[in-house]
Amino acid sequence: MSSPVQIAPARGKLGILLVGLGAVATTTIAGVFAIRKGLATPIGSLTQMGTIRLGKRTEGRSPKINEFVPLADLGDIAFGGWDIFEEDCYAAARTAGVLENGQLDRVRDELEAIRPMPAVFDQRYVKRLQGPNVKKGKNKRDLAEQVIADIRAFKERHACDRLVMVWTGSTEVYMKEAPVHASVTCFERGLEQSDESIPSSMVYAYAALREGIPFANAAPNLTANVPALLELAARTGAPVAGNDMKTGQTLIKTIIAPGLKARLLGVRGWYSTNILGNRDGEVLDDPESFKTKEESKKSALDYIFQPHLYPELYKDLCHVVRINYYPPRGDNKEGWDNIDLIGWLGYPMQLKINFLCRDSILAAPIVVDSALFLDLAKRAGMSGIQEWLSFYFKAPMHAREVYPEHDLFIQLMKLKNTLRHMQGEELITHLGREYYD
Ligand SMILES: NC(=O)c1ccc[n+]([C@@H]2O[C@H](COP(=O)([O-])OP(=O)(O)OC[C@H]3O[C@@H](n4cnc5c(N)ncnc54)[C@H](O)[C@@H]3O)[C@@H](O)[C@H]2O)c1
Repeated sequence: MSSPVQIAPARGKLGILLVGLGAVATTTIAGVFAIRKGLATPIGSLTQMGTIRLGKRTEGRSPKINEFVPLADLGDIAFGGWDIFEEDCYAAARTAGVLENGQLDRVRDELEAIRPMPAVFDQRYVKRLQGPNVKKGKNKRDLAEQVIADIRAFKERHACDRLVMVWTGSTEVYMKEAPVHASVTCFERGLEQSDESIPSSMVYAYAALREGIPFANAAPNLTANVPALLELAARTGAPVAGNDMKTGQTLIKTIIAPGLKARLLGVRGWYSTNILGNRDGEVLDDPESFKTKEESKKSALDYIFQPHLYPELYKDLCHVVRINYYPPRGDNKEGWDNIDLIGWLGYPMQLKINFLCRDSILAAPIVVDSALFLDLAKRAGMSGIQEWLSFYFKAPMHAREVYPEHDLFIQLMKLKNTLRHMQGEELITHLGREYYD
């Protein structure tokens, strides 16, 4: 057993700042309020419902995760955020149409009290949206300073001890790393010059990280995943996680694919298509935003199947991902997967998956978990990329010299072992020889 990591207690209030108060954000906030009142159960949340096995199987020690590590209590959370639309969180949740009106009405007062702060927004990065609640500034540096002022004012107004920021805003257009992202110095010069390669999401991430606030990215945008912002995170001791929450089709993909690979079943093709009718679907209808999402969704299979190690099984796999905007469906996405697989002696088989899911219902517990775990990481003195939170993301952030881990089961093991490590408990290797020797 190693000695436990020093973790500051979760004393006082945790402020969760959400950038983009749309479907995911309002479903998260309304859900937490309903759970706090005892009106609902936090299904899907590891921090609220998960347990962790400690020691040998014969010891029978499996405490709840939130009793094992000191996490913020849902009762001690204050929510705030930014959006380009002026509607309060109750109205925004009604617009999103995810939760039933009766359920929203039971937490109406709390939701109405959350009004979006004016956003940093430029339509160049999200082509399908336009809204009135937008900051003006002389350059991007000025906008970043305004966000920092918002953060400080929120912290004071709500008497928060600690803060976490999560980007729950729309998917921005596809972007590659540019010279302005190379270092904090280049980035700050770029802010001054309003460099085109600094989208709105990076302005928020910069503001959070400069304040030493943990930052998670629920969308596939590049955002904090550039050397400049990681350098800043290291300097201010801020943990970072992302990108793009793993919810519907990709969640299923990273559940099924490791199973096929474990049994050495070959895969020739994987065709995935979705229909989606919420605002996210509308934004993704723009080819440039879709490209960002597509890149994020497509990487998982390559890393799980490792075609370089198993060329007979997975080389030249044809992987196609489509998202079609179809308004009548709203947030209730439907995904179809057709998998062409091959077995013994090369005989072909097919697997079809039809997932009728609810996007934001799958996303909300992940927003809660990643915020609470990032706050824990901060109190444990961990900064920079938190690979143990890969479990929650479609395109997990990772050190440059290693490939990202996409297998959901390895990700969960990594997460739980990190918690065991924090508390000085033995890591679980699943070797299990001791029961038979
Ligand atoms: N729902 C899911 O299961 C899921 C899964 C993975 C990722 N995501 C991603 O999460 C994000 C949010 O999804 P959603 O369904 O809530 O979308 P949404 O369109 O309902 O909400 C996004 C909100 O962000 C706001 N916004 C956009 N740019 C902004 C800016 N610069 N500053 C402040 N606000 C801004 C929009 O006005 C909108 O209200 C999307 O990028 C989506 O791709 C969602």
